[in-house]
Amino acid sequence: MTLNHGLDLVAIPGPSILPERVRAVLAQPMPNIYAGEIVETSDRVLARLPGIARTAGHGFVVIGNGHAAWQMAIDNLLVPGDKALVLDSGAFARFWGEFARAAGVEVEVLPGDMRSPVDPEAVHERLAADDGSIRAVLVAHTDTASSVRNDIAALRSAIDAAGHDALFMVDGIASIGAEQFEMDTWGVDIAIGASQKGLMCPPGVAIVWAGAKAMDRYRRLSSDRPRTAYVDWEHRIDPEAIYQSYAGTPPVMHLRALDVAFDLIDEEGGLEVVWNRHRILADAVRAAVSAWSTPDGIEFNIDSPEHRSDAVTTVKTGSINATELGRVCLEQYGVTIGVGLANERASTFRLGHMGHVNPPMVLGAVGSVEAALVEMGARFADSGVAAAAASIGGR
Ligand SMILES: Cc1ncc(COP(=O)(O)O)c(C=O)c1O
Repeated sequence: MTLNHGLDLVAIPGPSILPERVRAVLAQPMPNIYAGEIVETSDRVLARLPGIARTAGHGFVVIGNGHAAWQMAIDNLLVPGDKALVLDSGAFARFWGEFARAAGVEVEVLPGDMRSPVDPEAVHERLAADDGSIRAVLVAHTDTASSVRNDIAALRSAIDAAGHDALFMVDGIASIGAEQFEMDTWGVDIAIGASQKGLMCPPGVAIVWAGAKAMDRYRRLSSDRPRTAYVDWEHRIDPEAIYQSYAGTPPVMHLRALDVAFDLIDEEGGLEVVWNRHRILADAVRAAVSAWSTPDGIEFNIDSPEHRSDAVTTVKTGSINATELGRVCLEQYGVTIGVGLANERASTFRLGHMGHVNPPMVLGAVGSVEAALVEMGARFADSGVAAAAASIGGR
């Protein structure tokens, strides 16, 4: 007998759960794309984008997923023969680096591991020794594979201390809308976001935010870098017609969805309040993982507590089979938990707690994992459910 009836709960680290009001606008009929509602919605969404990344810079929409935003940033700012330094702390900065490599950029990876943040001192050391050939530094703020949250302000300080001129390009796909991201205050030149995580929309639209230094580099490179309007910022900077912001038909459903998602953020009290909710719910998940932990079983993937993301938690399961755990959660209870990436599937799972999440969703996910552990006869130290509830109730 399975208990998997009723609402499904998808607790993967993106795409995240869609709010009812977002789903409702997705059911609206097609608009006229030349005038009226969708033009106003597009203007509103584009005007609201800088505030989401906390920048006075420009937010460019690319129709595609996060990979498309990586591509847009590379194509507008790097030319074949440039060198990029990729700061590894999981998977996604390296994947971004592969896109740069395919575009003819020489890529050097500053090696990291799956369990700790990028070390600012190592960045400082590498850049101080550079002869000026490194043109960009690429890093993921929150790496969704390892669930590390890198200290972006500290990495900026390391670049500055080395007196280096490289563009600082930060992937905020897993963090923007869920945890504090301060593009201008932290000195980020390029930030990357996507619709389907903290921004509570379906996948299919991504955002590249460009600060003043990046725009300056773009203008100087323009003639050296052939690129199509699909990624080129030229007409997007000051569009005369709506299609120029999207190189064609606007993504009407995503624009309406983002507009509603931004309303939801405002109605909740703004980004600080949203970040605080994420922190409280992440604390509950962390309380559960701490309670479960045993020497040969469950443990945090990220060792240092201050570098654990508020959007996703990667959990190592030791001798407990994480694939089986995921199967029991889904087949028996209707809860989908995130798998570990690459070759970590049997010993890692991930819980997403980003976007439109609240205590019953987080407690439901944590409770289902615990029930699955019981059902599997797996050993854990203490009740994670009790710890998570106490963490939320006692906040
Ligand atoms: C941190 C990070 N960067 C980039 C991506 C790639 O985004 P997409 O799958 O939308 O292309 C992901 C996807 O999960 C991600 O978590």
